[in-house]
Amino acid sequence: MTKLKNDTLIRALLRQPTEYTPVWLMRQAGRYLPEYNQTRARAGDFLSLCKNPDFATEVTMQPLARFPLDAAILFSDILTIPDAMGLGLYFAEGEGPKFERPLREEWEIRALTVPDPDVHLRYVMDAVAQIRKTLDNQVPLIGFSGSPFTLACYMVEGCGGTDFRQIKTMLYQRPDLLHHILNINAQAVIAYLNAQIESGAQAVMIFDTWGGALSHNAYQEFSLRYMSQILAGLIREHGGARIPAVVFTKGGGLWLESIANSGCDAVGLDWTVDIAEARRRIGDKVALQGNLDPAVLFATPEVIIAETEKILAGYGNGSGHVFNLGHGISQFTPPESALTLAEAVHALSRKYHQ
Ligand code: CP3
Repeated sequence: MTKLKNDTLIRALLRQPTEYTPVWLMRQAGRYLPEYNQTRARAGDFLSLCKNPDFATEVTMQPLARFPLDAAILFSDILTIPDAMGLGLYFAEGEGPKFERPLREEWEIRALTVPDPDVHLRYVMDAVAQIRKTLDNQVPLIGFSGSPFTLACYMVEGCGGTDFRQIKTMLYQRPDLLHHILNINAQAVIAYLNAQIESGAQAVMIFDTWGGALSHNAYQEFSLRYMSQILAGLIREHGGARIPAVVFTKGGGLWLESIANSGCDAVGLDWTVDIAEARRRIGDKVALQGNLDPAVLFATPEVIIAETEKILAGYGNGSGHVFNLGHGISQFTPPESALTLAEAVHALSRKYHQ
């Protein structure tokens, strides 16, 4: 069993005592860091960065060199799975992800197969192994995947930033077809996350970025159900250590109880949720991760510190909280703001762990 020098994140996710509240930031490696932009320019583009384990390792380490973060997160993207399924992922400059061959026809959907992560996503597993080696047990490495529904949104719509017209038409008109996609996606995510765990990921997170676009009933049937299926299929212990799993549904604040019952160890909260209320609702069952509004990082250090304290005080005494933003850090964030935040979380949280 490898001994982590700093296992605060793992302990907090398992609701075991810690000395302070651990912190990491969604999208902590990204365009707000000038050194990321330099590496990306050397790689050529974003996908080449993801697909080259040397570059992926380099950018994963960049935020850790600047800020006292308690975790690294694999540098990759949730769309590697549909890319490995042959949908032709590309990033048009300034427009976000797109697919050359989105799923529209029934025969295309019936032809979908589960990619073998050790073959079609080998570059991700190589990156995980190389990052672990470079981290040298300094902090844990988080692996991740998109949720089956969020992946399906991109696969069916063919791009982001839509009104969900295509996927919701399918949901109501041909639910059998959408369930077929979601089943394949769930199997793909189980294999993908388990391969990441076997390659060295020490915690995993499922990003359900678009689950919040669904109706109350549809969320349970088309998103949460498949995340529960994944959680039931994940390796939960590896190399003698428990591998905690986090579920984050953006816009999922109304469904916290059912998310907490999905089989996860922790629930990610977006910034619309009152963390004190979330703890009352589900804090005896799971750990909580979140949930500072990423826009707070555009304000002055005084405001960042005050807003950080509000969240720490909202959660209150004891373990079970991993500090994070309520969604990914903006590319326009001044890097100094991330430093102010990480230092504030560590300094201000000790009083809640005595
Ligand atoms: O957190 C990290 O540092 C790890 C890296 C990471 C990326 N994407 C890198 C990335 C993670 C965890 C993701 C997850 C991801 N990707 C999600 C779920 C989380 C969320 O934000 O809701 C989603 C929906 C995607 C799909 C995706 N990839 C989008 C919508 C975009 C464009 C977003 C934008 O800000 O332009 C990407 C590209 C992407 N993924 C970038 C990064 C750093 C920016 C690409 C670039 O360098 O041009």
